Amino acid sequence: MPPSSNQSEIARAAAILRAGGLAAFPTETVYGLGADASNPEAVAKIFAAKGRPQDHPLIVHLADAASLPQWAEKIPPAAHKLAAAFWPGPLTLILKCAPGVPACVTGGQDTVGVRIPGHPLALELLKAFAGHSGGRSYSGVAAPSANKFGRISPTSAAHVRADFGDALELVLDGGECAVGIESSIVDLSRGRAVLLRPGQITTAQIAAVLGVEVESHDAAAPRVPGALDSHYAPHTPLYLVSAAELPARMAGLRGQKLAVLARAEAPSGLKDVFWQAAPRAVEGYAHELYASLRRLDALGCAEILVEAPPAVPEWQGVNDRLMRASSG
Ligand code: TXA
Ligand code: MG
Repeated sequence: MPPSSNQSEIARAAAILRAGGLAAFPTETVYGLGADASNPEAVAKIFAAKGRPQDHPLIVHLADAASLPQWAEKIPPAAHKLAAAFWPGPLTLILKCAPGVPACVTGGQDTVGVRIPGHPLALELLKAFAGHSGGRSYSGVAAPSANKFGRISPTSAAHVRADFGDALELVLDGGECAVGIESSIVDLSRGRAVLLRPGQITTAQIAAVLGVEVESHDAAAPRVPGALDSHYAPHTPLYLVSAAELPARMAGLRGQKLAVLARAEAPSGLKDVFWQAAPRAVEGYAHELYASLRRLDALGCAEILVEAPPAVPEWQGVNDRLMRASSG
């Protein structure tokens, strides 16, 4: 649906956010559950609605890079380079936080996560929200993925409603999220570039822009609640298996209802197996991944078997999500 047909919805969402309420909105990665990032009472509602532990930091979404200094300080040149290359887009930067950023946003740490999302509705909402009124200034929307804590992230408005029902006053509907997995997160707060969460933007793309190596999340990094936990799990036990192992695994589970997310079309003669063929290319695979997992999870199968995608750099983001979704 074209953004112009949503003007009144966008205005309503901005008004809800300014009044300290919650509004869900689409981004190019996944749907976000937004609150005014400068209002601790509003941000507290996010944690309550999601059932999320209070010490998990949130990403602050901005309409433009001009408002960055309100949230971050000692911004290194690397941040400006990555912002110029990838914003608006699926990249979150971790920077030293500016004084006054509420602890509920940072999880009490001295850093803040920021990004400018690349979705027209999100950008219109963020622009409509930013401004001054009643002596308060507004510029950032804190938003985690709009799912209940520990569940699969939503890539459509229907997914958001499935998790929250009528508990949310407003879910802006921007159709399916193009990217389908959460943003890549790069920590620039420690004088180096460290990838905390892989996404569509790869380590190689980030390194090419910066002209330096990008390190992977390591043991020396500050422990960030929420970054390492199993986070994307369906209810049904999910296992990653190679294409070669798949027939034997299926044979071993004969007689039980099974779901398979494969990279090939279904073989003939399957019984009690719900077989779904995923797109071959990584963009299509990521775009459909969470909707597929939600669909397969709802079938009430004994297991979901996922054919492991290639272990190559472009698939890092997808493989990371599948690892987290898997039961071991
Ligand atoms: O694509 C996305 O990033 C989506 C959309 C809605 O923008 N948001 C999202 O938010 O995935 P959430 O809350 O589900 O995941 C945010 C991640 C968490 O793993 C959190 O630990 C990390 O970002 N994070 C946020 N602030 C941080 C900080 N200051 N330092 C380190 N990690 C941080
Ligand atoms: Mg999340």
